[in-house]
Amino acid sequence: MVHLWSGRFDGDPDKALMDFGASFGFDRRLFEDDVTGSLAWVEALTLAGVLTAEDSAAIATALVEIRARGTSDPSFFSSPEAASDEDVHSFVERELVARIGEAGRRLHTGRSRNEQVAVDLRLYLKRRVPAMQRTIARVVGALLDRAEAAGDALMPSYTHMRRAQPILVSHFFLAHVAPLRRDHQRFAVLLDEIDELPLGSGAIAGTSYGIDVHALATNLGFSRIVANSVDATGDRDFVSTFLHAAAVTMVHLSRIAEDLILFTSEEFGFLDLSDASATGSSLMPQKKNPDPLELVRGKSGRVIGRLAGWLSTMKGLPIGYSKDLQEDKEALFDAEDSLRGSLEAVASVVSGLSITATVSTGAASGLLLATDVADYLVAKGLPFRDAHEVVGALVRRLIAEGKSFDDLTASEWTSHSELFGADIKEWVTPAASVGRKRTPQSTRPDAVIAALTEARRWFATNA
Ligand code: ARG
Repeated sequence: MVHLWSGRFDGDPDKALMDFGASFGFDRRLFEDDVTGSLAWVEALTLAGVLTAEDSAAIATALVEIRARGTSDPSFFSSPEAASDEDVHSFVERELVARIGEAGRRLHTGRSRNEQVAVDLRLYLKRRVPAMQRTIARVVGALLDRAEAAGDALMPSYTHMRRAQPILVSHFFLAHVAPLRRDHQRFAVLLDEIDELPLGSGAIAGTSYGIDVHALATNLGFSRIVANSVDATGDRDFVSTFLHAAAVTMVHLSRIAEDLILFTSEEFGFLDLSDASATGSSLMPQKKNPDPLELVRGKSGRVIGRLAGWLSTMKGLPIGYSKDLQEDKEALFDAEDSLRGSLEAVASVVSGLSITATVSTGAASGLLLATDVADYLVAKGLPFRDAHEVVGALVRRLIAEGKSFDDLTASEWTSHSELFGADIKEWVTPAASVGRKRTPQSTRPDAVIAALTEARRWFATNA
């Protein structure tokens, strides 16, 4: 049996161990990028005077043919010959040699699979990360639509999952937009990190052929070349960066999911899931379950696991390439698929949400206006700590009597503080509360409208 390394060995490798080491089952996803890298490499070898014009043309023509076949015919990858290919790099090379013979055997001159897999992964991410960013933007777009649809509906905000202060429902939706925009930016940082060409590093020490790596970088769309060949062949920090960005995005999707699971429940009822984004029960006829959101919440654990697992794989490795690095691909691809699926699911569920403004606004009044009552006393000159104590006692009384601020008569108000005047009535409403906020990041209605407008502009340039 002929292998990439047959010359050095007397015997055949153990079949089970070969299968154990093979990555073709999953790295075929890098097929297009592998051919792209090889096409550029042929050109670089030709410019360096290593390949004749004739061999160069034969290799390039065959590679283009192989790419066309691979992108149009999935059965290409499951041919009987492909069954014993170790990885996508050996698959392409075997196909090449099968087509053009000796010239094909010259392609790998001065090059190693160690740098090939590094360049393939970078090329792959250069294509896929912008698509992922657009999918993140789709979720942002769906949230912005809901924020707009919410109009002036109010809801309670929560700290410690206890009612805190009234906010606009649109402010709640925009709260989930901000983390996703940071995620988008995290992927932009990754795009910069991967923008370095590793080719020219050889297996570890560099290449002895006169490759113009700058021209090669330009040809492949990289703006820089790596600094060090030893580092470059064993560097997968960009995989860690991808997994980190993916894991953090999943955490954000999971928090959206959790909020929506709660707020669409019977206990809250602020929002309602569309029929299309819920599931029924096989047993309980009344159920409308948020399965897609639960699955997103569940998958966040899986992606976090991919990051943690991958960092554990990396931590003990000596500098340079080791086969452990092959584990990068399943981690990367699985995290990518889980994230894309989750983003699409959340975009779809959010688009189908309806807002039950009567319920959410109703829940935004009552004792969660206590801070506003204290602010009233501060406006009348009382130090805040004293105001806090006065209102604390008032709240204790209201809870004991099963009442709210609305139920208090003028004399009941003044029995707690002489500073309470007739204007307290219109001061302690949820609408007045949000209207009194001052800062640009607050739930003040005109601040929320400005935030929505700004986010819409971001969306327009990133969708
Ligand atoms: N399939 C290998 C990987 O994913 C490609 C590089 C192989 N290099 C080697 N020296 N075995 O890492």
